[in-house]
Amino acid sequence: MKKILLLAAAWTACVCGAQDLKLAPDNVDKVIKAMTPEEKAGVIVGKGSGAFDGRGHINDYLPGCAGATNPIDRLGIPPLVYADGPSGLRVDNKLCTRFPNGMLEAATWNTQLLETIGEAEGREFRARGIDVVLGPGMNIQRNPLCGRNFEYFSEDPLLSGLSAAALVRGIQRAGVGACPKHFAANNQELNRLSNDSRVSRRALREIYLRNFEIMVKSSQPWFIMSSYNFLNGVTTSQNRDLLTTILRHEWGFSGAVISDWGGGYSGAQMVKAGNDNIQQGSKERYNDILNKLKDGSLSAADLDACVKRMLEAALRAIRYKGGSPTDNPPLEENASLVREAAPEGFVLLENHDNALPLKKDDRVALMGTTSYDFIHGGTGSGTVNNPFRSVCMPEGLTDAGFKLDEAMHRFYTDFMQSERRRCENFNKNVPWCCEHERAMEAVPTDLITKAAKEDKAAVITLGRVFGEGVDRDWYHSYMLSNGEIALLKATAEAFHKEGKPVIVVLNVGGIIDVASWRNLADAILICWQPGEEGGHSVGDVLAGNVSPSGRMPVTIPMQYSDDPSAPNFPQVKADKYQNYSFYRHVGATPQYKVPCVDYTNYEEGIYVGYRHYVTRGVKTAYPFGYGLSYTTFDYRDMKIKDRGDRLEIGVTVKNTGKRAGKEVVQIYCDAPEGGMDKPLRELKGYAKTRLLKPGQEEKLTIVISKEWLTSFDEDKSAWIACRGEYAFVAARDADTPVLQMSYKLNKDIKLKVYDVLGIEPVFVN
Ligand code: BGC
Repeated sequence: MKKILLLAAAWTACVCGAQDLKLAPDNVDKVIKAMTPEEKAGVIVGKGSGAFDGRGHINDYLPGCAGATNPIDRLGIPPLVYADGPSGLRVDNKLCTRFPNGMLEAATWNTQLLETIGEAEGREFRARGIDVVLGPGMNIQRNPLCGRNFEYFSEDPLLSGLSAAALVRGIQRAGVGACPKHFAANNQELNRLSNDSRVSRRALREIYLRNFEIMVKSSQPWFIMSSYNFLNGVTTSQNRDLLTTILRHEWGFSGAVISDWGGGYSGAQMVKAGNDNIQQGSKERYNDILNKLKDGSLSAADLDACVKRMLEAALRAIRYKGGSPTDNPPLEENASLVREAAPEGFVLLENHDNALPLKKDDRVALMGTTSYDFIHGGTGSGTVNNPFRSVCMPEGLTDAGFKLDEAMHRFYTDFMQSERRRCENFNKNVPWCCEHERAMEAVPTDLITKAAKEDKAAVITLGRVFGEGVDRDWYHSYMLSNGEIALLKATAEAFHKEGKPVIVVLNVGGIIDVASWRNLADAILICWQPGEEGGHSVGDVLAGNVSPSGRMPVTIPMQYSDDPSAPNFPQVKADKYQNYSFYRHVGATPQYKVPCVDYTNYEEGIYVGYRHYVTRGVKTAYPFGYGLSYTTFDYRDMKIKDRGDRLEIGVTVKNTGKRAGKEVVQIYCDAPEGGMDKPLRELKGYAKTRLLKPGQEEKLTIVISKEWLTSFDEDKSAWIACRGEYAFVAARDADTPVLQMSYKLNKDIKLKVYDVLGIEPVFVN
């Protein structure tokens, strides 16, 4: 390809006399005119799989980064260099900050904090010379078993959209581009290149596109990544309705669309759809563009439109703007940010008799193999290869002032040595990006009995690795193993006999079953996968230096089968279809043989997560938005002000307890009767207080666009809200309203939108 480019460059330089023409903001069209078709295709198609090292990395620019575009020196067109970054910079040979996973970020319900995290991350990319952050991941968590839930935010489109927007704003404030992904309806990993998501237009508009719409409109990302999957029979990177009509014409997106790595089939079709950059790039896609241009089935105008967007993107990037990378990001400063930010997303599920916080110099029995093999983040492209730190639980708890039961510590250290050897053997055959085998649990009965007598509390950490390419399975990953249950039972029996608490810390990338064993624990804290300072952040919370203030970004059901998408989500281990293969790749048209593998019916429609549980009165273990604190809060003085196109809802929150803490106020709308079928309750806005000391209060103002009151009417292809009384509740979670006010909408709202994506999904069974 290089040779072709050089020849083409020489040819153009003589023919067009364009030797002095160099890309600048005021000459983009002129530069495009001076480009040969080969150069244009070269700008669209990425550096190519030949440049890759087999782990999804290229070694040009910064070794280990995900990809780059082809520069054209004669026209002053610089390359754009991309690296993965849902939780920090993924490159080789450089120390990088490992930020918390997306799920924890959403659980903070704190957009200001997410902007700060985004900016810190963006600065780190900039310091290392990377132009674009491939992230955040923001697909809806349709089902608890999706392998990439750890990177994603929530089951709710508003929380997902606002969390993503805050990160994007932060990243781009640092002068690098963000590339939120994967657009759209990419909600499972099994057969991820070729699965057809079969979704009704209403569910698409209200759930699977709404999060992206909110993010685009409130943060204007420089890029968006199209996804791998088919959507109602058309692969998303070749879907013009999606990438041009909706994304650009309707939402006003002005950036460039990048394909997911290896996504799409025909280069020309991708260009036609408005997929501007094809990564990782291949000779076939490059040739396809040129051949179709020659035979007239791809128009020069479509090609130029994509080239223009890529040149405009290049003009924004640091490589064009100049300034050499410092290669010296503030790693210490970022580590402090990670340590402080994580507890804002920790969710306290249970805290009987104020079992937490513990006393700082208590001696505790630290148990469970995950306590000795803490999981700081997920695997796959959402990982950080060389984290600056990896603070484990023993270090974190000791630094927080706790004394560790030495005999227990010694037992686990020895046990982990032999388990590590076993796992290493097993993991030899597991692809780099997938979930790896982890240590099994032991039940050291004698030590537990002794610890119950001598120590003040048991702290058991249970962990689950989430990763790219493979969904989790119910039996092995959602439910606790027999070993974990045996450990919990033995510990609860011994410690409760002595009147001492059992604290369970869940170090997970998404939810697991809790309802069946929660009666064994006095306190349950989800710390998710909190980034490089994990041990410290957990120590800070257990010691009461800080109150956890996270709220559930998804529902935890009583049992997995209650999930509305459960009947239509893969229930097989991936290796049933090919040894560990996440690619049951079937080619350019989807197949409809194996349900949930070839195609997935989104039969639950808009009733995803709490929309299902609340509307149908299905009991949950912990509702969406749930989370306890070390203190208590009162709400009062709810007020609604009509500001034309938006409502401002005021609520005053007072800390009525004995410790400092932060509260999240969630505003749900209970739709009026009649009209369209709607969920009983939908999240319309939220805000988090600053740190309130006992007795302190804060008046929060939550802004709700009236547009968000609408639902999508497929027949009219319009967003509709009928006039009438709307009940707004200020709630602690989706099940716990505290204050309520009604608001009268005097006029119907009807927003017509493009009547596209019109293929009604045939639910193949
Ligand atoms: C993932 C993307 C990632 C890309 C580049 C793909 O396999 O799905 O999320 O950004 O690889 O590493």
